Amino acid sequence: MKTRARIIGTGSYVPEKILTNADLEKFVDTSDEWIRTRTGICQRHIAAEDEQTSDLASKAAQAALDMAGVTAEEIDLLIVGTITGDCPWPATACLVQEKIGAKNAWAYDISAACSGFVYSLDAATRQIEAGAIQKALVIGAEILTRFIDWTDRNTCVLFGDAAGAVVLEAQETESGVLSTHLHSDGSYYELLYQPGFGSVHPPSEEGLKNRVPYLSMQGNEVFKVAVRSLYNVAVECLEANNMSVADLDLFIPHQANIRILDAAAKRLGLSEEQTYINVERLGNTSAATIPVALDEANRAGRIKEGDLLMFDAFGGGFTWGAALVRW
Ligand code: ACO
Repeated sequence: MKTRARIIGTGSYVPEKILTNADLEKFVDTSDEWIRTRTGICQRHIAAEDEQTSDLASKAAQAALDMAGVTAEEIDLLIVGTITGDCPWPATACLVQEKIGAKNAWAYDISAACSGFVYSLDAATRQIEAGAIQKALVIGAEILTRFIDWTDRNTCVLFGDAAGAVVLEAQETESGVLSTHLHSDGSYYELLYQPGFGSVHPPSEEGLKNRVPYLSMQGNEVFKVAVRSLYNVAVECLEANNMSVADLDLFIPHQANIRILDAAAKRLGLSEEQTYINVERLGNTSAATIPVALDEANRAGRIKEGDLLMFDAFGGGFTWGAALVRW
C-alpha cells in the first residue's frame, strides 16, 4: 500500500467581531442589497486590533492538533499559506511555530493568495509521500481587512479575516490526499495584487498617498478567469483519478463570492448538497476559506469515513489548484 498524507485533525478560528453589510453602509457608498446580490456576502469577521495573523493561525492549528490528539512537538513541518502575514518577513509560519511550541518543525510560508492552502497541502503531501516526514501542520490564515482600501467600494466589501488548519500524518492507506493539481499564470498578475510595498514600490509617503499598500483588483476580469480555471482544474483532478462529479460527496471551493461558486458548480454539474458554501457568513478570507469550510463541515458531522472530497481554489498570481481527498 502507498504512503499517503491523511488528514487526522481539522481546526479553525474566526475573530469575534462581525461587520455586517448594514455596518458597511454607514461608511462606504454601498448597500446591503448590492453586496448580497453581487457577492452573496451578508457579513464578515474582522480581527481585533491586538490580534495578528499568527494568532489566528495558532488558534486554528491548536484546534486541529487537539482533534488529532497530536502534540505540537510531534510536528515535522509547518506551512502557512498567507499573503497577509504578521510582517513581510520572516515567515509567519516561524511565528506560529514559536506560539504553539512546534520546536521540532521546520516552517515556511507559501504565497499563492487564495490558492495558498491548496498549494501548502500539496507541498506537505509530497514531503510525506517521499517519506521525508511523518506529520505536518498545514494552515491557511489571513487578516486581509488590514490590506484593503476602505475607500474603494469595489473591493472593501468582499473580504474578511480567518484561519483554518489541518494535521497531516503519513499512513499506509488507500485514504488521504489522492492527488493535487496546481497551476499558475503570471501574465495576469496586475488583475489582482497588492502593488506595494515591495521592490517596485518601496516604502514611501508617495506610495501611501497612491494607496499602493492595498489590494487592487479588476473584478470583472478576475471573475471570468476564476470560473474557467476552477472548472478546468476540477475536471483535470477527477480525470486523473478516473472519477466523475457524481463520485464527490463534498466539494469545498474557495469562497470568493456566490456568483463565482454558482457558475463553477453549475458548469461541473454539482448539486447543492455536494457543495459547501459559507461565504455569506465569512466573506472571502483568501487562503483560509477552504480549511475553515472543511473544519466547519467536519465538526458538523457532514463528512464520514470513506467520503470523497475535493478542494478547488483560485487566486492572485493567478494561481489555481485542486486536491482530491478520501476521508
Ligand atoms: N456597492 C455599490 N456599488 C458598487 C460597489 C459596491 N460595493 N462596487 C462596485 N459598485 C458599482 C460600480 O461602481 C459599477 O457602477 P457603474 O456602473 O456606475 O460604474 C457597478 O457597481 C457595477 O460594477 P462591476 O464591477 O461591473 O460589478 P460586477 O457585477 O462585476 O461585480 C464584483 C463586482 C462583485 C467584484 C465582481 O466582479 C466579482 O465578483 N468579481 C470577482 C472578483 C472576486 O471575487 N475577487 C475576490 C478575489 S479573487 C478570488 O478570491 C477568486
